[in-house]
Amino acid sequence: MTQGIDNKVVVITGGSSGLGAETARHLTRAGAKVVLGARRLDRLHALAEELGLGAESVVQTDVTDHAQVQVLVNRAVDLHGRIDVMLNNAGVMVDSCRHCLACESGPEQPKEKSA
Ligand SMILES: NC(=O)c1ccc[n+]([C@@H]2O[C@H](COP(=O)([O-])OP(=O)(O)OC[C@H]3O[C@@H](n4cnc5c(N)ncnc54)[C@H](OP(=O)(O)O)[C@@H]3O)[C@@H](O)[C@H]2O)c1
Repeated sequence: MTQGIDNKVVVITGGSSGLGAETARHLTRAGAKVVLGARRLDRLHALAEELGLGAESVVQTDVTDHAQVQVLVNRAVDLHGRIDVMLNNAGVMVDSCRHCLACESGPEQPKEKSA
């Protein structure tokens, strides 16, 4: 996955936790220039510090807001001159544990097949 990633400019949405954060760790170690977006700025800053990225490499971004996504894209271009990879990772799984716990009826059960 990381062959040729050295010095590539990678923007990751949903970079504050889970797969996005792990991908940021992985690609940063492989030499990519990573720019992170998500809503939880405190988490983004903590990850940037962990990875040795500058504070300017994170942008508070809600991907449902076009203007915020534009700011994220502009930041990456301002910092690095281009974007090579855009990882549109932000999102939640509908049947994730967090959602099941928040839902009174719990997760939807698969329907039994009729004979
Ligand atoms: N985990 C799996 O097994 C699996 C399997 C298939 C697909 N996926 C997909 O992979 C993606 C990441 O999953 P995950 O398991 O890593 O989930 P996660 O740990 O809940 O992380 C979700 C990330 O998305 C961000 N996010 C959510 N809504 C956002 C919004 N409106 N704007 C910007 N960022 C937003 C969250 O950051 P903030 O809350 O800080 O904004 C967080 O960083 C999701 O799209 C999921 O559907 C996951």
